[in-house]
Amino acid sequence: MHIRHTLSSRIEAGFAALGLDGPALVQAAGRPEFGDYQANGVMAVAKKARRNPREVAAEVLEKLDLEGIAGNVEIAGPGFLNITLAPEYLSALEPAAVAGAAASQVIVADYSAPNLAKEMHVGHLRTTIIGDSVARILEAQGHQVIRQNHVGDWGTQFGMLVTYLRDSGENSDELVDLETFYRAAKTRFDDNEAFRNRSREAVVQLQTGDAGIMQMWQRFIDISMSHCQEIYDRLEVTLEPQHIMGESRYNDDLPEVIEDLRSQGLLQESDGAQCVFLDEFKTKKGDILPVIVQKSDGGYLYATTDLAAIRYRTGQLQADRILYFTDARQALHFKQIFAVAAAAGFNYSNASLEHMPFGTMLGEDGKPFKTRTGGVVKLAELLDEAEQRAVELLRANNPDLGPDEAAETGRMIGIGAIKYADLSKNRNSDYVFDWDQMISFEGNTAPYLQYAYARIQSIFRRGEIDAAALPGSAVAVEEPERRLAVTLAGFNDALDQVTQEGYPHFLCGYLYDLATRFTQFYDACPILKSDGETRTRRLVFAQQTAMTLEKGLGLLGISVVEKM
Ligand code: ARG
Repeated sequence: MHIRHTLSSRIEAGFAALGLDGPALVQAAGRPEFGDYQANGVMAVAKKARRNPREVAAEVLEKLDLEGIAGNVEIAGPGFLNITLAPEYLSALEPAAVAGAAASQVIVADYSAPNLAKEMHVGHLRTTIIGDSVARILEAQGHQVIRQNHVGDWGTQFGMLVTYLRDSGENSDELVDLETFYRAAKTRFDDNEAFRNRSREAVVQLQTGDAGIMQMWQRFIDISMSHCQEIYDRLEVTLEPQHIMGESRYNDDLPEVIEDLRSQGLLQESDGAQCVFLDEFKTKKGDILPVIVQKSDGGYLYATTDLAAIRYRTGQLQADRILYFTDARQALHFKQIFAVAAAAGFNYSNASLEHMPFGTMLGEDGKPFKTRTGGVVKLAELLDEAEQRAVELLRANNPDLGPDEAAETGRMIGIGAIKYADLSKNRNSDYVFDWDQMISFEGNTAPYLQYAYARIQSIFRRGEIDAAALPGSAVAVEEPERRLAVTLAGFNDALDQVTQEGYPHFLCGYLYDLATRFTQFYDACPILKSDGETRTRRLVFAQQTAMTLEKGLGLLGISVVEKM
């Protein structure tokens, strides 16, 4: 159930009954003394009608039907409506259940998409993690999510890599480490003219689809992708081989993209290159920044492939929305291809094209995150370190933990911590990667939430409670119970905030509030020491909290642990 939505539509119906029109502007109340939710829309509506807002508020209140939903509605200040939810309403909501979207959409999620020449490094972390959690939540809401891993598997450097692979023998040890492989190939390319020439021939052969070279290329792509898949599996990201739809898959469509642009009169030659000039990309000086779609040597560009991808996704896949998760530095690229697609009529299903940009991951020195020696941080190594640090934290916290249990739990905590550190920040900003902050039981961290969940499990163990046999709902009696129930009920509002604009930090903030609210409840309302109905009721709230934490973390791609 979406509480904000329900309240808004009732209040807006109240406005309409008075011949007024405007948004109810419902939000969670800033302070408990203001109730649970507040509606701020009365003032604007009254202003528009040139009426006294408090009077309007009083009339709205009279018309307002919140029977069974609100226990109390009050007018405050210049015309705010403060709403306190009714305990019966709260107890009727199914806890931890994801509410289905009103209309199921086809949504393409374009994320991760590393360039395959190199091993996955920290630069691929944010797109992979943020994209995956938004995809999971959309799917849980009943949308048809089509994951598209638009990997960079084409381009001139592949001639070099394939030639090097051919020379070194396909099963060469060097391939175990793609980074070293890439560097070795590059060194030979720089130092050896014959190799350079053969690499260039290989590019031509690749472009003409030479079977032998294509086979070598495929072999290279397979090896590189299997490295990525290992990382996805370790990260518990839902990407699978069938989601790969790399740049090379659009090769055959590129000449047609150019032809279609040409036939519509959108192409213009500039310095030998084929370009699209659109007025909206006028610079301050008045020149138009062109979108280049074909180089003078006939080669195509990143933008050309993305135009072909829009045609495929809106034509074949019939997408309603396409979400692109990349670094903010690609903002102009997406603006350009969205504009060209619109001008050329390539958006066949009239999909909403949405770039979901994010900032850079910084080191503690405030500069882009690097190894101590200034190299790129490989994801595999970053994950190793996270797991190791989590095991240390666990063993310090709980010396009785056996080594196997510590290793397994440590894995879930370490990986969860890295993912959560990223997801919990507003993605628009850069963020500082800080081990001590993220692998900690304090603050808005994954270990804190995992611990909150484990603590509830330990209450059940101590009380020998079969949580599955508890009643599904309970009506709050005391205020801390009621406040916990209000927070539990806000789950779907938080999910909507994530999926509307692609901001997972709203769900993180919600889960952190929930865990904090649970602690307040638990401090004020003992569970195992109470008895009878009170005990059962509080156990139900504990169980609902655990279920919501588990579900919410699961939607972020993070596992809970039973014991820690
Ligand atoms: N391979 C690109 C990169 O590493 C990201 C691709 C994003 N998706 C897209 N459709 N352009 O920067």
